[in-house]
Amino acid sequence: MQPETLDLGGPLVLIGCGKMGAALLDGWLARRAVAADVTVIEPMAENAAPFMARGVAHARDPGGLPPDLNPAVVVVAVKPQQMDALMAACAGLAGTGALFLSIAAGRSLAYFEGRLGAETAIVRAMPNTPAAVGRGMSVLCANPKTGPHQRDLAGALMAAVGEVAWVEDEALLDAVTAVSGGGPAYVFLLIECLAQAGIDSGLPEDLAMGIARATVAGAGELVRQSDLPASTLRENVTSPAGTTLEALKVLMASDGLQPLMSRAIAEATRRSRELAS
Ligand SMILES: NC(=O)c1ccc[n+]([C@@H]2O[C@H](COP(=O)([O-])OP(=O)(O)OC[C@H]3O[C@@H](n4cnc5c(N)ncnc54)[C@H](OP(=O)(O)O)[C@@H]3O)[C@@H](O)[C@H]2O)c1
Repeated sequence: MQPETLDLGGPLVLIGCGKMGAALLDGWLARRAVAADVTVIEPMAENAAPFMARGVAHARDPGGLPPDLNPAVVVVAVKPQQMDALMAACAGLAGTGALFLSIAAGRSLAYFEGRLGAETAIVRAMPNTPAAVGRGMSVLCANPKTGPHQRDLAGALMAAVGEVAWVEDEALLDAVTAVSGGGPAYVFLLIECLAQAGIDSGLPEDLAMGIARATVAGAGELVRQSDLPASTLRENVTSPAGTTLEALKVLMASDGLQPLMSRAIAEATRRSRELAS
């Protein structure tokens, strides 16, 4: 379903047009979700080039923005490690009344308040790359200076590219980052593992990868359209004494997928906390 076009009431600036920034912008443009002049700030002009062809302006750094631009929203999509240098260059944008919407893992609201000023409206969002096809999952958390209208804007921007949830407790974003921020990577790994296991069981490589991709995509669409719990959908595939049951005995053993996944998520959560400190 095509989302309503969102009028931001002023220009949108996207800083950082790498994998995630580009996924968001692609989602916004493809769905004509945002009625605003959009400028991408990105040192790598080739990253911005496909969007310039779609009417987006480009500057290499915040100093290259027109002085009278007055953006309504500044989306910050650089790596956490690049943030200190970027914030130093953003002094001119602080205090303009713009809402700052950061998608960086592990950079806290307090971090941004410390660099942009405590009066700045700041929302942290943790999206994921399926936003590029309108199927993202974003979890948001706002600082107290974010008014209801700016909260709505941030929520609507992220809702234009997928589902949205809000948390009031910012600390939860570390585990959110681990589960949904990085989650697509684990699912893609599942496809790779499933395909390799098929090859190990005698399938030709093309067929193994084709059926692994289609199976994960189909299961994803089924769970999206169904109201049934994931466990019921799993049981629906599992005939008594059948083949799936044999695989699930391995995957659901005490040393199976759950402890592995819990360990992986705990490590990613720890890293998110570490980045914030
Ligand atoms: N990838 C994901 O799935 C995902 C999911 C959720 C959240 N995030 C968050 O999204 C943010 C971006 O991640 P990513 O994977 O998209 O990283 P990325 O592909 O490295 O993108 C970052 C982009 O920002 C550019 N950049 C660096 N410094 C800049 C500056 N001062 N001004 C403007 N642009 C600058 C980088 O250019 P150079 O290449 O020249 O350095 C790069 O093109 C991270 O904070 C990450 O935590 C990512």
